[in-house]
Amino acid sequence: MAKVDFEFAKDGPILVKKDGKIEYALCRCGHSTKKPFCSGAHVAAGFKADAGKLELKD
Ligand code: FES
Repeated sequence: MAKVDFEFAKDGPILVKKDGKIEYALCRCGHSTKKPFCSGAHVAAGFKADAGKLELKD
């Protein structure tokens, strides 16, 4: 079974990783032009948020 992690990039998106490889970057700032995915708009919006990580275990 694949290992899936959610990494919260500092001041950026939620990176959904499968077996350590980034599969998706999901917007968490609310300013993306490609929702639900990150478009990079968080930079111009000045989005600030802590980094973090959520690991799912079997
Ligand atoms: S987190 Fe990148 S556009 Fe929202």
